Amino acid sequence: MNQRKIIPAVRTDNITYAVRDIIVLANEVAKSGKEMLYLNIGDPNIYDFKPPEHLVKSTYEAMLKNHNGYAPSSGIKEATDAIGKEAGRKGITNVHDIFVTTGASEAIDICLTALVNDGENVLTPTPGYPLYTAIASKLQMMENPYYLNESNGWLPDIDDIKSKINDKTKAIILINPNNPTGSLYTTENLQAIIDLALEHDLVIFADEIYDKLLFDGKKHVSIASMNKDVSCITFGGLSKNYMVPGFRIGWGIVSGRKEILSDYIEAINKILRARLSANHPEQYGIKISLEGDQSNLAEANLKLTKRRDMTVEMLNSIEGISCVKPEGAFYAFPQLHGIESDTHFVSELIKETGVVVVPGSGFGQVPGTNHFRVVFLPNEHILEKAYSSIGNFLKKYKHKYPKGVEA
Ligand SMILES: Cc1ncc(COP(=O)(O)O)c(C=O)c1O
Repeated sequence: MNQRKIIPAVRTDNITYAVRDIIVLANEVAKSGKEMLYLNIGDPNIYDFKPPEHLVKSTYEAMLKNHNGYAPSSGIKEATDAIGKEAGRKGITNVHDIFVTTGASEAIDICLTALVNDGENVLTPTPGYPLYTAIASKLQMMENPYYLNESNGWLPDIDDIKSKINDKTKAIILINPNNPTGSLYTTENLQAIIDLALEHDLVIFADEIYDKLLFDGKKHVSIASMNKDVSCITFGGLSKNYMVPGFRIGWGIVSGRKEILSDYIEAINKILRARLSANHPEQYGIKISLEGDQSNLAEANLKLTKRRDMTVEMLNSIEGISCVKPEGAFYAFPQLHGIESDTHFVSELIKETGVVVVPGSGFGQVPGTNHFRVVFLPNEHILEKAYSSIGNFLKKYKHKYPKGVEA
């Protein structure tokens, strides 16, 4: 037979997803019988966190009531109404559309697909969440990375953003609270971004999937709540705040001026209709999650605060590591000093110690700097073991590679 090899599309060439890619190596190491300590996946359910019971029950009941067919393309009314009320509580006015999607991931994908043409670009945070890079590759959209400033609590660098905007820039992506740094943005910073968005007709993509996971009594401010004229899509979901990432329930809230947004909203809705609907029974968990008892969240934030404190304290006590204190979400993004390649460091770390973290290069970073991302969802016992191992390993690593390893 003269069969030819199936050639995948070029658009997949640059798709990487460091968070999952690192698993291949971790699985190999695990096969050797080594004890593994996983600090790499932002899934609360594989650690000691559980969703509120009423969320699971309402989904189960919806299934028993046979809400198992397709849902309306924008989501069931009960859910979109509840998300609308949530937008109100967040102070977002001028809302013109709300849609439920298969995780916030799908909402982000659809909204970018409906907005950006070949050759146009979107400002993406560096470091940032790799989903945006993967979608950019898929759409053959130009990424236009802007830096978060580590010496300023990882806030978006406004001067850098200004210098990167050009006549093909369509949108700016903000992740607040941030993955991978855990930072929470100040209103001054958000205001500067609003000013730029208004001046340059940019859509703000406000990824607020972690907006209820906050420490030290900090309050989250939705950027869309600060200006009713700015075009903004606020992304949220049940995955993180309510600990059901496997339900795949997220949403988008479109706000700003209707006459400016109407064609774009229709384009988004065309795609929403073409893909039929998001998961149906799980949508019955949205209202109860947002409006029901919130003690699950309070407990989670308490646990996370302790683990965050321990993370910052232990990592900062290691010579050669510095870590900015996260204020939300469940990630930290410590810097490695005197190291040439975080990818090499992390693969050696996994092989030698079984501690799994993700190299900073998977999220983007200022050239010449090296970081790794830790997820501080594991319990204190695991974290303590992992951070001690990282400290001991770093000493050995520097001894073995005194001149570093080429990146
Ligand atoms: C910043 C950010 N946005 C979006 C997502 C994806 O959320 P979902 O599970 O709702 O698709 C994640 C998941 O880790 C994330 O970290």
